[in-house]
Amino acid sequence: MMRRVTTVAELQRVIAQFRADGATVALVPTMGALHEGHLALVRRAVVEADVTVVSIFVNPRQFDRKDDLAAYPRSLDDDEDALRGLGEATPDLVYAPDVDEMYPSPPAVTVTVDDSLADRLCGASRPGHFDGVATVVTKLFNQVQPDLAVFGRKDRQQLQIIRRLVADLDVPVRIVPVSTVRDPDGVAMSSRNRRLTTKQRTDARVLAAALAAAVEQTRAARDAGGTVRIAELLTTMRDVLAEAPDVRLDYLEVVDPGTLGPPRPELPATSRLIAAVAAFVGEVRLIDNVELGDVDDEDALLAGVRSSEELGG
Ligand code: PAF
Repeated sequence: MMRRVTTVAELQRVIAQFRADGATVALVPTMGALHEGHLALVRRAVVEADVTVVSIFVNPRQFDRKDDLAAYPRSLDDDEDALRGLGEATPDLVYAPDVDEMYPSPPAVTVTVDDSLADRLCGASRPGHFDGVATVVTKLFNQVQPDLAVFGRKDRQQLQIIRRLVADLDVPVRIVPVSTVRDPDGVAMSSRNRRLTTKQRTDARVLAAALAAAVEQTRAARDAGGTVRIAELLTTMRDVLAEAPDVRLDYLEVVDPGTLGPPRPELPATSRLIAAVAAFVGEVRLIDNVELGDVDDEDALLAGVRSSEELGG
C-alpha cells in the first residue's frame, strides 16, 4: 500500500525498514501535477528497484519568477490518485515535504552548476534555475539515499546536469533516463500544458514538428552516408516554427549532448546531437528536444508527430 510521508525523519524511518529487508530503493523526483510522462518514470522505477519513492515538492529555489511559482499547479490528492491508478506499478512511498521541512532555514551552503552547463539553453533565460534544481536534488538524494533515480529526457539539460552532479560529487546514485511521453497530438507532456487554450494547444504542435523535420533531414543525410550542417538544421526547424506565428521563440539550438555547447558546424550525420527548442505559447513556456543519432529517441518523436498528422493536425 502506498504511504504518504511529509518529514525527513519519517521518510528515513520507513526507508530504513525497507533497507533492513535488503530492498533496493528508487527515487522519482517530481514537482507534482503528475501526468503520463511522470507515470512513465514511476513505471520504470518500479521495474528497476524493490521500493519506489516519488517525491512531490514544488521547489521555490528553482523558480526565478514569483508569478511562475505561484501559477505552478499543486494537486497532491489528484497526484496520489494517479499513482494509485498505476495498479502494480503504484509506488511504495510519496514523500511530500512542505517548504519549511525542506528548507528549515535559508541554506548557507548550496550546489552551484558551472556556467558552461547552466547558463545556456533553459538556463540563459532562467538565472539560478539549475543551482536551485541541483541543490534540491542533492538534498533529496541525501534524504532518500536511493540506489537509483529516474529523470525524464524532456528536461534534457537538467538530466545532463544531474549526470554531472553525481559524477563530479561522487554521489552513489545511478541515473536512469526515460524518453519523453507525448500526447496523441505530438506535444510533449508537461504540467504546463493544462494552461494552454485550445488554439494554443494546436500552436504548440509546431515545437515537435520542427524537431521532427530536423530528424528527417538528419536521417536523409545518414542514409546517404553524408554529413549534417548545423546551420541548415536550424533553418529547417525555423521554417517549421514560422508556421505558427503566435509562438514566440525563446531558443532554438543544436548542441553537443555532453557539453551542451556548440558542436562543429558540420559533422557526420551519425553524430549524437541534441536539437532543443523553448518557446512561449501565450504566457506558457514550453520546451522539447530530441537526441539526433539516438534512433529510439528519434523514433519516439516521429511516432508522436505522425500520429498527430493522421489525426488531421
Ligand atoms: O524536473 C522536475 O520536476 C524538477 O526540476 C525536480 C527534478 C523534481 C527538482 O525539483
